[in-house]
Amino acid sequence: MKHFLKETDFAAQELPDVFALARDFKAKRGQGTSTILAGQTWAMLFSKSSTRTRVSFEVGIHELGGNPLFLNRNDIQLGRGESIEDTARVLSRFVHGLIVRTYDHSDIVRLAAAASVPVVNALTDFLHPCQIYSDLFTAAERWAGPGGDLVGSLKGRKIAYLGDTSFNMANSWILGAGMVGMQVSLAGPAEYEPSAEIKAQLAAEKRPADFRFLTDPFEAVRGADIVYTDVWASMGQEEEAEERIALMRPYAATAKLFATAKPDALFMHCLPAHPGEEVEQAVLDNPRSIIFDQAENRLHMQKAIMATLAKHAKT
Ligand code: CP
Ligand code: NVA
Repeated sequence: MKHFLKETDFAAQELPDVFALARDFKAKRGQGTSTILAGQTWAMLFSKSSTRTRVSFEVGIHELGGNPLFLNRNDIQLGRGESIEDTARVLSRFVHGLIVRTYDHSDIVRLAAAASVPVVNALTDFLHPCQIYSDLFTAAERWAGPGGDLVGSLKGRKIAYLGDTSFNMANSWILGAGMVGMQVSLAGPAEYEPSAEIKAQLAAEKRPADFRFLTDPFEAVRGADIVYTDVWASMGQEEEAEERIALMRPYAATAKLFATAKPDALFMHCLPAHPGEEVEQAVLDNPRSIIFDQAENRLHMQKAIMATLAKHAKT
């Protein structure tokens, strides 16, 4: 069974087709209902809050002709101690796909191993692959132009990632950028440098660790095509917020810092944003900020991901 738990679960050679499908879904939105998931129910098992991911998946499953079933972890027996494996086996008897948002990445790996339907990672502490695919697509749309080579337009581009370089978004950029030939410079406090876990993942996949970690944000942003940031205290880290804010303050995406990137650089953020913390409101409002295109493209890209997994599941 093919799952989408990490960026590299699709081969780099598959990306042009997945991106083309997302572009097609975007162009044809509203022109009749798809039957790709007709007669199917896809469950969404969430252990954390969500606005974009939840709504884009629910709407996306519906637009593909399927039925979304939202399950909060605490509303099902999983929240009372039923095992991940039994939950996966039982849900697989009812539904055709599982969209999962959780904490430990090992939980989604266990769930997928026991499931007999495709499982999609809707964010773990380790990775947020649906976000990165949508983000790559969003930048590519700008650079490739209508009908242009989306994936090819990313090659050789540089992203500067600021703030917490040890968590899901930074990890996903490291994996995702490597697949399309982008260069990644990460800048943050040494206490939150890229984790041993992402280095182990690269080693396990025999991929070079071709990212740079810097403590100087200006050095990281120099020559960047994309300046990217995320919240400083992620879901589950609320109690560490004060300490993190104090350490990450020098890595805020300020207008001054953004101005040192390439003159046509894009600003990106997965959202939700905390204006005045990791990013200045003026940067969020900059005409080269594409944060709401990123949010919208979650819908089109996730439809492409689900359609591709559904096709694999049938064969
Ligand atoms: N970017 C993102 O995944 O947002 P949500 O937490 O609102 O789903
Ligand atoms: N790093 C953030 C991303 C939210 C989409 C978190 O995990 O809370």
